[in-house]
Amino acid sequence: MIAHGKGIKVFTGNSNPALAELICKNLGVSIGCSTVSSFADGECAISIMEPVRGLDVFIVQSTCKPVNDSLMELLVMIDALRRASAGRITAVIPYFGYARQDRKTRGRDPISAKLVANMIEAAGADRVLTMDLHAAQIQGFFDIPVDHLHATPVLDEFIMKMNLPQDKLMVVSPDEGSIKRAQAHADNLNCPLAVVDKRRTSATETRQANLIGPSVEGKTVILFDDMISTAGSITGAAKMVKEAGAEKIYLCATHGVFCGDALNKLNNAPIDGLAVTNTIYIPEDQRPNNTVVVDVSAMLAEAVRRIHYNESVSMLFKSRY
Ligand code: R5P
Repeated sequence: MIAHGKGIKVFTGNSNPALAELICKNLGVSIGCSTVSSFADGECAISIMEPVRGLDVFIVQSTCKPVNDSLMELLVMIDALRRASAGRITAVIPYFGYARQDRKTRGRDPISAKLVANMIEAAGADRVLTMDLHAAQIQGFFDIPVDHLHATPVLDEFIMKMNLPQDKLMVVSPDEGSIKRAQAHADNLNCPLAVVDKRRTSATETRQANLIGPSVEGKTVILFDDMISTAGSITGAAKMVKEAGAEKIYLCATHGVFCGDALNKLNNAPIDGLAVTNTIYIPEDQRPNNTVVVDVSAMLAEAVRRIHYNESVSMLFKSRY
């Protein structure tokens, strides 16, 4: 296959350098030399410390907490690399923030996900590589190619290695919006699926109304979601499943956003374990009890390699949803 540009170069902002290092390790390249700091007034200060002319450049930056700083670092870094004559720039955004503001739910609402897409393009990105967007249609907010990966195979492999009793295994979707994702997991894990009927009671509060589908009594339940933010949705679902008689409950999500009272809620929820991926860096002392961090760097690195060599990225998936 013919490679794009003179070679691969990976840079990182401050949001998740550990993941960027792992991606580089998988690719067998060293991380690009740059400094990402701030001026005295808080403005973002970026210096690219090595030539990038003609290179196929990848910037790894999740737009997670502090969201606006992470986003601004990404934009300024794209600008710096564009002006330094990089051959092509791919924004690798393992966790894409602002994704939940993807439509107007009331009059005069912004569509912030579209604004962020416009900003990334205006800064000079040629492509985007991301993982488990909150809403897949955000791909269409960009007029540049977007490769959208799913953590499904990596999370399912992790679950399979737990050797849970197959006859008791059951996947539960914590809301209707996650049914397709949950169905893909249930298919991979070869087990039944049930769905929690989640109702929104206010902008920040939800309640779990019904459990739809086969009985969870005596079952080993795995709840899958794209993200755990305040943890209201997934802990509410865990409580409902527990009350319905589930024997064991495990939570799995791609993005551990963990904000507000999430730690407290998760530590007090009726769960036996929790797995999130490393799309967002979570310091050990900020992880809920019994958290396992599942590494998605190999998948991201393989996508980077395929983009560089103009190979199919969709071939990475066993299942699509
Ligand atoms: C809902 O639409 C999503 O799939 C997640 O369930 C939700 O965004 C998680 O948010 P929180 O943890 O604040 O309930």
